[in-house]
Amino acid sequence: MQFDVRAMKPMDRYELLLGTVLPRPITIVTTLSGNGVLNAAPYSLFNVVSHDPPVIMIAVLPHLERRLKDTAANVFETREFVVNLVPRSMAAAMNITNIDAPAGTNELTLAGLDVTASKSVKPPRIATSPTAFECRLLTSLSFNSDQAVLFGEVITAFVSDHLVIDAARGVVDTPRLDLFGAMHAARWYCSTADRFEMVRPTWKQWMDEGRV
Ligand SMILES: Cc1cc2nc3c(=O)[nH]c(=O)nc-3n(C[C@H](O)[C@H](O)[C@H](O)COP(=O)(O)O)c2cc1C
Repeated sequence: MQFDVRAMKPMDRYELLLGTVLPRPITIVTTLSGNGVLNAAPYSLFNVVSHDPPVIMIAVLPHLERRLKDTAANVFETREFVVNLVPRSMAAAMNITNIDAPAGTNELTLAGLDVTASKSVKPPRIATSPTAFECRLLTSLSFNSDQAVLFGEVITAFVSDHLVIDAARGVVDTPRLDLFGAMHAARWYCSTADRFEMVRPTWKQWMDEGRV
């Protein structure tokens, strides 16, 4: 079956696109408003898009009220954000930070998540996140006035000491991060425990093995 995506209702497109492009990594983004009010919200439309320069992208979809979500509004005000990676042990807390609480509610307090000072930016990082990236807004893209794709340059990367294998080369103990992924229907998740290994082929090896 082929879908005429442009003819679909926006929420049906959401179902189709987010029900197929997965698993997606999960972050809780911490930001400060211009007045210094701390905000936290989960985002899964995010990824590394460059390592040189080091750039992380987050897609902030429109708020149901057809306005910018607080994360994007704050980043446009202060140009800083922290991407806190979420291990399985923080899954329930992450879900609580998504609650539709009245403005001014501190979702991190509701979720029982503590923060600690970042090194290079004003928004704090989440104390129990094993990895956090302190970012400065580099540029952004906008398809509509109520949404934004934010591109942040990573200034400082935090990794819990016990998860660092080779500090000089940036090697971390990835399996022990115990991160999980976002799946379909806005409520399914997967773990990263089910892994398999595959070495990338080279043309020389292909030739040596007489495959051509
Ligand atoms: C696992 C998960 C992933 C999410 N990913 C996104 C996302 O990538 N983009 C988005 O706009 N909203 C996403 N949301 C919804 C936002 O977290 C939600 O709209 C939140 O209230 C936004 O808060 P803010 O206005 O403080 O930024 C996600 C929610 C969950 C639970």
